[in-house]
Amino acid sequence: MLTPGMGAVSTTFMAGVELVRRGESVPVGSLTQLGTIRLGKRTEGRVPKIKDLVPLAKLDDLVFGGWDVFPDDAYQAAAKAGVLDAKDLVKVQKFLKTIKPMKAAFDQNYVKNLQGTNVKKGKTKFDLAEQIREDIRDFKKKNKLDRLVMVWCASTEVFLKPESVHQDLPSFEKAMKENHPAIAPSMLYAYAAISEGVPFANGAPNLTVDIPALEDFAKSREVPIGGKDFKTGQTLMKTVLAPAFKARMLGLHGWFSTNILGNRDGEVLDDPGSFKTKEESKLGALEYILQPKLYPELYKTIHHKVRINYYPPRGDNKEGWDNIDIFGWLGYPMQIKVDFLCRDSILAAPIVLDLALFFDLAKRAGMRGIQEWLSFYFKSPMCARELYPEHDLFIQLTKLKNTLRWMKGEDLITHLGAEYYD
Ligand SMILES: NC(=O)c1ccc[n+]([C@@H]2O[C@H](COP(=O)([O-])OP(=O)(O)OC[C@H]3O[C@@H](n4cnc5c(N)ncnc54)[C@H](O)[C@@H]3O)[C@@H](O)[C@H]2O)c1
Repeated sequence: MLTPGMGAVSTTFMAGVELVRRGESVPVGSLTQLGTIRLGKRTEGRVPKIKDLVPLAKLDDLVFGGWDVFPDDAYQAAAKAGVLDAKDLVKVQKFLKTIKPMKAAFDQNYVKNLQGTNVKKGKTKFDLAEQIREDIRDFKKKNKLDRLVMVWCASTEVFLKPESVHQDLPSFEKAMKENHPAIAPSMLYAYAAISEGVPFANGAPNLTVDIPALEDFAKSREVPIGGKDFKTGQTLMKTVLAPAFKARMLGLHGWFSTNILGNRDGEVLDDPGSFKTKEESKLGALEYILQPKLYPELYKTIHHKVRINYYPPRGDNKEGWDNIDIFGWLGYPMQIKVDFLCRDSILAAPIVLDLALFFDLAKRAGMRGIQEWLSFYFKSPMCARELYPEHDLFIQLTKLKNTLRWMKGEDLITHLGAEYYD
C-alpha cells in the first residue's frame, strides 16, 4: 500500500490500521470493515458483512510505504501532524518508525507553500517517473508482495486545466521528456503506477489522472484508476443535505461554506493556486445534484461560495460552517446552519483504507480505467467523458453495493418490492 505523501492523512491511516490489527481499536468509518450488504429479498435475512461477501485483502496482509518531501519517518510525521494523541501514538511508535519515506518527485512550482529536502533529482520529468517506477519495483521485491495499490495522500497542487499534452499518451510522454509545465508531479506518480500495473486513486483535487492520456493508458494496461479528492467533512454533508432539498422540491437561494483549519494542508491551501484546485472540487457538487436546468424555479440562481481559512490554532481539527438559504411554499425563506467541528484526518483515514482495498479488488475482478462505482468516496468523482458525475451520497452507495452484488452474481436491488404485496 503506497502513498505519495506521508502527512496527516496517511500516517493517521497507517497508525489506525496497526491499532485495529492489534485489537486495540475499531475501524470506525470504514465501510469495508464494518459495512453490511443485503442480498436477495428482504424476507431472506441474508445480510453479510461486505468483507465476507467479496475477497478483500486482510488488514494483516497490508504493508505500508510512501514518498514525502520531508525525511521524517511515519512516527515523526504523525507526531508533527498532531492528529493522534501521544497515548495512541506511543503504542504504534516502533511500527511507524520503520516506515521511512522514499524521495519525492517534487517541484515547488506546483505546491508553493512547501519546501523540502527529501527530493529526487532528474534531468527530465520522464526520468523522475522512471525513478518512481524503480521505487515501486524495489518496494514490491523487498517486502515480497503479490500486489500493490497507490493512493495519493500528498498536498494539493496548483490548479491545472487539461491541455493538448494531456490528450493522448504519446503527447504526454513527449511532454514529460520536454519538462512541459502542464505535467505536475502527481501525474508522474500516476504514470509510474499505471506503468507498473498498480491501481491509482487520487485523494486530492489535482487533475493528476483525470486526463484522457492516463485514462486510456490505464485501460490499455488493465489498471483501475479513480479520484478526485476524499469526500470527508463539509462536502459529505452537502451531498446528504442537497439531495434532501431536491427530493422535497425545496428551493435554494444560496449556500455559504467557510472553513478554518490549521494543519499543513491548510497552509498549502493558503496559496491561491492550490486553493483554486480545492475550490473547483468543492463547488461542483451542488450544481450536479440540484440540476438548475431541470428545476429553474428552485435552483436557477444559487449563490454558492466556499472559503478556506488557514488558522493555525485549530491544527487538524477543522471547523466547517455552512449557512444555507432555502425557500419553501410561496417562496417563504428559511435558513439552515451547520457547524461541523470535525477532525479532518480522522474522517479521511478510513477512506484511504476502503479505497486501497476496493481498488485492489477491482483489479483482481478485471475492472480497468475509471472506477465510477467508488464515487462514494470522492468530492469530485471521475466518470466517463460523456457522463456527468453522480454526487448524491445515497445513489453513490447504492451503486457501490450493486457493483459488489454484480461481482458476486447476486440480484441487483431496485427497491421496487412489489412482490411482497402480490
Ligand atoms: N483530511 C481530509 O479531510 C482531506 C479531505 C480531502 C482531501 N484531502 C487531501 O489529502 C491530501 C493530504 O492531506 P493531509 O492533511 O495529509 O496533508 P499533509 O500536508 O499533512 O500531508 C501531505 C504530505 O504530502 C507531501 N507532499 C507534497 N507534495 C509531494 C510530492 N510531490 N511527493 C510526495 N510527497 C509530497 C507533503 O510534504 C506532506 O507531508 C491533501 O491534498 C488534502 O487536500 C484531505
